[in-house]
Amino acid sequence: MLIIGHRGAAGTSPENTLMSISMALDCGVDWVEIDIRMVDDTIIVLHDETLDRTTNGSGSVYQHSLADLRTLDAGDGAQIPLLSEVLELIDARAGLNIEFKQRGLVGAVVEMTTAFIERQPRWRNRIMFSSFIPEVMSELSVLDPSHCMLGALSESNAEDPIRTANHLNAYSANISLVQLSKSLVESAHKQGLMVLVYTVNDNADVRRCFELSVDGIFTDFPERAIAFIQNLPMISRTQ
Ligand code: G3P
Ligand code: CA
Repeated sequence: MLIIGHRGAAGTSPENTLMSISMALDCGVDWVEIDIRMVDDTIIVLHDETLDRTTNGSGSVYQHSLADLRTLDAGDGAQIPLLSEVLELIDARAGLNIEFKQRGLVGAVVEMTTAFIERQPRWRNRIMFSSFIPEVMSELSVLDPSHCMLGALSESNAEDPIRTANHLNAYSANISLVQLSKSLVESAHKQGLMVLVYTVNDNADVRRCFELSVDGIFTDFPERAIAFIQNLPMISRTQ
């Protein structure tokens, strides 16, 4: 089961910062997940539209210049990073799931990730795009698959996440833990879809995902999840 460091290692380090991503890499994650927005034509890594929860700034991120945003403290003295900095830091040592939190970024992001793949071929099949925004998912679904993998991200109340993932020709159905069931995983696997589950922090839930043959989990505590899974060798999994 793949371990995806959620916003880096958000449970133990300021989310979506280079510090948090480094910590996730040090833990040995398979993938890192981040959230992106655009300010002054530059892709930045930030979950919320407002600055208050994760930085010492306030108000909408879009009311600030990039230069202003870069002076803010995103936790433990870390800056709000740029997508380019994250790609450079990871350098294809792990996969990167880029979640679009805003419309209108696909072209710019594909241009950047394509350049990184050309420079570092190990990035191929190590970049996954996803979004909760249906229009963004539609835009992503028609991209040349060599540019990225598509994770069909669905809300916890989504009606039929597997059908949607299939419709989008996605690599995976990225579902909420709330939606996890044996039948959902079996149905996805029958249709050739991977199942990635967010956000799985408790060991009991990590164990349940493992037992149900989930393909990967997004977790704020990758170090703990990796250690826990390593101690589960005898658990039988559904096929
Ligand atoms: O992609 C999984 C997860 O990151 C989606 O929820 O709110 O943490 O971006 P959120
Ligand atoms: Ca996210």
